[in-house]
Amino acid sequence: MSPFLLTRTLPEDATDAALRADVLHGLTRTPKELPPKWFYDARGSELFEEITRLPEYYPTRAEREILIARAPEIAAATEARTLVELGSGSSEKTRHLLDALPELHSYVPVDVSESALTGAAEALLAERPGLNVHALIADFTRGLALPGTPGPRLVAFLGGTVGNLLPAERAAFLRSVRSLLDPGDALLLGTDLVKDEAVLVRAYDDASGVTAAFNKNVLSVIARELGADVDPGDFDHVAVWDPEREWIEMRLRARSALTVKIPELDLAVTFEAGEEMRTEVSAKFRQEGVRTELAAAELELTKWWTDKEGRYALSLSTAR
Ligand code: AVJ
Repeated sequence: MSPFLLTRTLPEDATDAALRADVLHGLTRTPKELPPKWFYDARGSELFEEITRLPEYYPTRAEREILIARAPEIAAATEARTLVELGSGSSEKTRHLLDALPELHSYVPVDVSESALTGAAEALLAERPGLNVHALIADFTRGLALPGTPGPRLVAFLGGTVGNLLPAERAAFLRSVRSLLDPGDALLLGTDLVKDEAVLVRAYDDASGVTAAFNKNVLSVIARELGADVDPGDFDHVAVWDPEREWIEMRLRARSALTVKIPELDLAVTFEAGEEMRTEVSAKFRQEGVRTELAAAELELTKWWTDKEGRYALSLSTAR
């Protein structure tokens, strides 16, 4: 048997259909919105990598600090034989976990990007020739089926991406993750934490404008994929902290009154001058909130680790 298997659970045209549905729904409602998953074409993924290296964007470095410090404890607590990583991308952070899990039988990276999966698998197999890599091309928000690899299983969802889901989506997502686990299996979850507003806003509105370019990239995706005649220069990047809901919102604000024609959807969308469209929510958490949300999905928070500055947390929870 080859140590590398690739399974597609997402039909080839699913992405295109989902984009059309999201754009049609999001641009015809009030207020307008687009879901953040459409940022990540090749250019958007590059810009996100650039964001992770910005001085203002601390979450990636904070998470790496925790992973490096705690990988041995994570390994000891879980004794995982299968590591499932949701939204694995380049599997860069995973290395710290893999290194601490010498007994690991299988690594199951899950991502919508086939090229990211094959690239990551190739690099990993060069380092760990004995490891079985069973990659899944899948949208982890849509319900997953895992291969029959040996337990205990550890599901990792890193980067704080759970914060990009709205509360109801988050609850549904945690339940679907729980349904993949047997009693004793574990979830390793990365969550950015509530902190000073100025620090948060800077992280999402950096001085060099990389996050602004990342935000506007969603307009280029719509232009390319759906033929929209939209000029990213007609919009300003906005990042605001919502103190009630404790999340950062990214928006695109129309600089003047304008119309965006989207021929592929047979649609013309008008924006008023100054009108804002939400493109991302990035929720920030507190330990009690995370514990409560996990408990609602029948997951018991057993470990909580933060970086030295207390900006970001990794939690380990167990399926009861
Ligand atoms: C790492 C994908 C969760 O919300 O911080 C970065 C994406 N958006 N800058 C985050 C993002 C704006 C990011 N995630």
